[in-house]
Amino acid sequence: MPKKLFIKTYGCQMNVYDSARMTDTLAPIGYEPTDSPDGADMVILNTCHIREKAAEKVYSDIGRLKPFKEKKTAEGEQMILAVAGCVAQAEGAEIMRRAPAVDMVFGPQTYHRLPELVAKATREKAIGKSAVLDTDFPLESKFDLLPEESRSQGPAAFLTIQEGCDKFCTFCVVPYTRGAEFSRSVEEIENEARRMVALGTKEITLLGQNVNAFHGEKSGREIGLGDLIRYLSEIDGLERIRFTTSHPSDMADDLYEAFANEPKLMPYFHLPVQAGSDKILAAMNRTHTADEYRRIVDRLRAACEDLAMSGDFIVGFPGETDQDFAETLRLVTDINYAAAYSFKYSPRPGTPAASSELQVDEAVKSERLAMLQTLLNEQQLAFNLSKVGTRMSVLLEREGKRPGQLVGRSPFMQSVHLEAPSRLVGSIAEVEVIDAKANSIEAKVITGEWETSVVDAA
Ligand code: SAH
Ligand code: SF4
Ligand code: F3S
Repeated sequence: MPKKLFIKTYGCQMNVYDSARMTDTLAPIGYEPTDSPDGADMVILNTCHIREKAAEKVYSDIGRLKPFKEKKTAEGEQMILAVAGCVAQAEGAEIMRRAPAVDMVFGPQTYHRLPELVAKATREKAIGKSAVLDTDFPLESKFDLLPEESRSQGPAAFLTIQEGCDKFCTFCVVPYTRGAEFSRSVEEIENEARRMVALGTKEITLLGQNVNAFHGEKSGREIGLGDLIRYLSEIDGLERIRFTTSHPSDMADDLYEAFANEPKLMPYFHLPVQAGSDKILAAMNRTHTADEYRRIVDRLRAACEDLAMSGDFIVGFPGETDQDFAETLRLVTDINYAAAYSFKYSPRPGTPAASSELQVDEAVKSERLAMLQTLLNEQQLAFNLSKVGTRMSVLLEREGKRPGQLVGRSPFMQSVHLEAPSRLVGSIAEVEVIDAKANSIEAKVITGEWETSVVDAA
């Protein structure tokens, strides 16, 4: 009987990738994924430390899992409860103190040791010892030790190519939780991408905390992210490539060229800017000005006319005045985003900005966030509406909520709803956009191998 593994993933796409790889690591010792913690033999919470809310959620989830664990014990079995990811890395010892129900705590760089950790946790728990902790930054790389075998992530999949960050933005925990910047080898990435495509993946999103800082070597030459994208485009059956997340200070010529020349690279670029005031950007240690960011976007749009821009914003960073915030609104107006993520500044333990005496009042943060989001939502709706009546390709990712409905992604990352038979999940459809809302667009299929079947289904 296979043992049941339930993983809950918080935070960024890198955690989604890591959770998939944890599943692969545990498969050889008999664990199969399941979609409920009820009855599971192992539950892993793959956590995020980026903002206070995200980190606190973990403790309430541990509380919610306790009855499942007790039920398992009452049945004479064991549920191993593990906390992984960035909260584990940042506050491993505290988790063990605050939550005795937890059996295992391990960070983002040690999950290749999972089989050993499981054996150890099972042993130690049997003799009443406390939880097993592994938050090393090991000398060996997990990527060299993870199994090659993997389960398919589906039509659209994530592939981590770079990890860690040396930027030390003054608000951010990532350099502490993920460690120093590191790029995987080109060969390893190409092999993993080929295996994904063989398992049915059509779209790969290349991941890294600073993905455009990726650097590698191919045929004796130093290459960057844009070159890597060009090499990956040569893989037959891989139809679409995306990447996230980038830093404005790591823009290089090969990436602009990829947007100009590589049809498989989708016309969507998530380039966080955080703020529009140079004073705040400097205090954040972002290493570029607002005008430098504007020039990057101009050059990108010159390379790729139809590029959808997306960004991340923080409001209420220590010392942000009304004037500074107005600069953020001005930058947003200048760029005209197709999508964006915006947050209230959340002081994080151990980061320089957290100890600043210039903290902004919570009510002011809320007010600024509401204003910013109103503007960003207007831009997103306008972008979606601008596509009504146009044709585009959509990767059909899954079935929708309504019967006969499928959900996919446009080249511009928009969520697309359309009517088509469910066997078409995993294929790419040519569609015409017929309606748009703030968070999704509606389309009808116009061509493709399934054209007749769509007519049949109607
Ligand atoms: N590597 C990515 C960042 C990942 S964190 C990058 O450089 O863009 C994702 C986003 O969370 C950041 O872009 C930022 O907007 C937000 N964020 C990070 N730390 C934060 C904090 N302390 N408070 C509020 N938002 C934060
Ligand atoms: Fe955090 Fe800045 Fe690094 Fe992004 S670049 S992960 S925001 S420190
Ligand atoms: Fe969160 Fe860690 Fe990602 S802190 S955003 S899960 S790198």
